[in-house]
Amino acid sequence: MTTLSLPVLDEQATISQRSAILGTYKRAPLEIVGGRDVELLGADGRSYLDFASGIGVNALGYGDAGIREAIAAAADTGVLHTSNLYATGAGETLAQRLVDRSFASSVFFCNSGAEANEGAFKFARRWARTIGGSRKHEIVALRGGFHGRLFASLAATDRPSYRAPFRPLAPGISISERDLDDLARMLDSDTVAAVIAEPVQGEGGVRVLDPAFLQGLRRLTSEREIALIFDEVQCGLGRTGTLFAYEQSGVVPDMLTLAKPLAGGLPMGAVLLSPEIAKTIQPGDHATTFGGGPFVASVALHVFDRLSDEALLENVADNGLFIEGMLTELAASTPRVRAVRGVGYIWGIDVVEPAAGVVARALDAGLLILSAGDYTLRLLPPLVADRDDLARGLAILEGVVA
Ligand SMILES: Cc1ncc(COP(=O)(O)O)c(C=O)c1O
Repeated sequence: MTTLSLPVLDEQATISQRSAILGTYKRAPLEIVGGRDVELLGADGRSYLDFASGIGVNALGYGDAGIREAIAAAADTGVLHTSNLYATGAGETLAQRLVDRSFASSVFFCNSGAEANEGAFKFARRWARTIGGSRKHEIVALRGGFHGRLFASLAATDRPSYRAPFRPLAPGISISERDLDDLARMLDSDTVAAVIAEPVQGEGGVRVLDPAFLQGLRRLTSEREIALIFDEVQCGLGRTGTLFAYEQSGVVPDMLTLAKPLAGGLPMGAVLLSPEIAKTIQPGDHATTFGGGPFVASVALHVFDRLSDEALLENVADNGLFIEGMLTELAASTPRVRAVRGVGYIWGIDVVEPAAGVVARALDAGLLILSAGDYTLRLLPPLVADRDDLARGLAILEGVVA
């Protein structure tokens, strides 16, 4: 493994102070130089057990042999990019596999989660205008939701501190309480095009939405000819123990957005569309130069095959119960943990002190974890973490929380 070296402007300066990268992130005092399986290697020579997965991206951990082969094979073709003016085998096959495993008839590829959601908003408006005219364009999102940081996805994101400095946000997007009565009042069939929801809210504190609520939301949206978009950018592709999180609620959306783990660490997003919506989309309605190119699609094909494997999914579901047991015991053993929530390999832990302090102590103890709000820790282990890895990480966590 080669060691990266950052330009040192001042020996006393922290990594973020001496970086030329714009300071939009408060970086941890850790420079990563390599990784294997579920561990990362720091420039300090220490190994770190990773329960963050690059914020839900590295589902197959580090150094996966299939990803390395897919990268080498894609490089051998000599064509990393073609534009979307021409078809490629990898993109076509990946889209077909996503369609075969879901409710969708068509897929739009892009490069990130926010871009997938912005694409879904456009497709919803295009469809709604076709069936209901130009007044039918409003998008409704839910309290506690996170959908990205671009102007429309930010308008759908319920985080006042992320929104306030950038007003005015995109118009025609509002936030409802997670309450069917409130939604019933807001969802006017003449003006609302779509509702967007994460079946498991991630950044907003790890909240598994009640299947009964999602079923009620489906009923309301279907009755009023409003598109239901599920944002599975964080909770999709195996993280909850089923390929798609929506499978556990018995609710089928009209569109689904994916990103994070889709291409194993390369940037890729996708919008899955029902036939009713797909048939209203015309050439020129939306575009992306890079989306779904042959290089990322080749890697994503391997990742998708692995993540849709029933044995892997069963393992995530079973081990999710193990995590639940361990975290429930932790919550019972210390008043410093207020509540635990989650499913599969996505867990939130409410603590009595600022989460940032616990995240920093975990790093010192060799465990990478995340926060999800000021007082909530978030665990997103790679989906290949086995029971020993999970037990080891949870033991470190217990030591730094309690
Ligand atoms: C549910 C959800 N939607 C959208 C996004 C935005 O994705 P990206 O950062 O790739 O734009 C995220 C990112 O954390 C997310 O968790």
